[in-house]
Amino acid sequence: MSDSNPILSSSAQSIEAYQQAIEQSSQAVMQWLQQSEMYQGKSVAELRDNISLNFGQKGLGNEAAIARAVEYFLKDSLSVHHPQCVAHLHCPSLVVSQAAEVLINATNQSMDSWDQSPSATIIEMKLIDWLRTRVGYQSGDAGVFTSGGTQSNLMGLMLARDAFFAAKGHSIQQDGLVGDLRKIRVLCSENAHFSVQKNMALLGLGYQSVIQVKTDDCSRMDLTDLAAKIAHCNANGEQILAIVATAGTTDAGAIDPLRAIAEMAAEQQIWVHVDAAWGGALLMSEKYRDYLDGIELVDSITLDFHKQFFQTISCGAFLLKEARHYELMRYQAAYLNSEFDEEQGVPNLVSKSLQTTRRFDALKLWMSLEALGQEQYAAIIDHGVTLAQEVAVYVQNQNALELVMQPQLASVLFRFRPEHDLNDAAIALLNQKIGDALLDSGRANVGVTEHNGVTCLKLTLLNPTVTLDDVKVLLSLVERTALEILAR
Ligand SMILES: Cc1ncc(COP(=O)(O)O)c(C=O)c1O
Repeated sequence: MSDSNPILSSSAQSIEAYQQAIEQSSQAVMQWLQQSEMYQGKSVAELRDNISLNFGQKGLGNEAAIARAVEYFLKDSLSVHHPQCVAHLHCPSLVVSQAAEVLINATNQSMDSWDQSPSATIIEMKLIDWLRTRVGYQSGDAGVFTSGGTQSNLMGLMLARDAFFAAKGHSIQQDGLVGDLRKIRVLCSENAHFSVQKNMALLGLGYQSVIQVKTDDCSRMDLTDLAAKIAHCNANGEQILAIVATAGTTDAGAIDPLRAIAEMAAEQQIWVHVDAAWGGALLMSEKYRDYLDGIELVDSITLDFHKQFFQTISCGAFLLKEARHYELMRYQAAYLNSEFDEEQGVPNLVSKSLQTTRRFDALKLWMSLEALGQEQYAAIIDHGVTLAQEVAVYVQNQNALELVMQPQLASVLFRFRPEHDLNDAAIALLNQKIGDALLDSGRANVGVTEHNGVTCLKLTLLNPTVTLDDVKVLLSLVERTALEILAR
């Protein structure tokens, strides 16, 4: 039976229905949290067979719909909080972030105009100001919360593109792309996130505009090669629209030399965007904040809170050093940010965002900062970085494991390497199979990736409750699985 009034509202009936639905859902979550497996281990085919939509002329009602979600979604979800769930930059979430979601969802504020989100708009603006000062920018409100790193990188590249054309007296907003577009370049390291390429394609300049700069032994952008690539572009009549530096590459966690890059770019007046989707967490760190030295010099920054800030998905931010660049994407919509309202000083965030309707994700970070305080936040971030260093030492002492590179943030790249002879292709295949077998068994989710052409396994040790002992258990599971595969 469907409920007679399914809308969340002030009526007693609605409030009761809300309470029941939330209680039923949270009870199910609490039970799910207590299950010991990381994943029930169903295959793609099993899930496809199992899951079907059940839309009828008459609804099932909230209770039955929730029960079905528990059965078909929750029970077969991956436990991201499980100590053996370490494949990706995919964090377990803070309890307070969950509480924030209750408030965000129930109030359903939309961040595109002040009259749709009065207190939320002010909180987000204050948080942007706080993040700016944390980075070392001047206090201000140039920045906005985003859906994550990809969107923040898009904003950085889009504004860099528009500033580049504006300097030549051309408005992209008004007139679109003009000129010899195939000569426009963006430089980033060969380990930069793929969203640089995707975003340049979206921006009309294509993958071809992206030039990859070589990296050093630690996977950081090589400054000599950067200087050579800049010189080569200049000599060829190619124009550099931006340099994207990464603070925390997806696999190795490498942090490019931000200060040196910013200084080199400043000599040529090139926009620098820093993708600090992962490494931005070090803004909170007590021990490792200096890894981000120079970040305050760059034009725009990506931060992502659904990585090592332990927020629920989605939660990211974009920061812009100079507010005047926001003029490049200015649009006045009479129903959201009218001239009249702006003259009255009514704040609006739609003019700072690529999105129109937008969630109040900032609340999660705001409540988390208040709940944890500086010390505890720093501790849970530093934990992963320190643990990765300890795990690296342990891996180096295991005969059958090979450390592929020294960790820089909270990830460890390594591979299983049997003592008897196997060629590189066979070792690569073996490591791939180890990763697949672990997930199939539901016992662990370990990343499989490539580093400098070497297929390796990756532990992304974000979870602050994971200990060295947990990782030792996982590594022995890796070894046992490898031996089982070899014995087949
Ligand atoms: C370095 C880096 N930048 C950007 C992104 C994209 O972030 P999102 O998935 O939030 O869009 C990722 C994702 O892992 C990343 O590792």
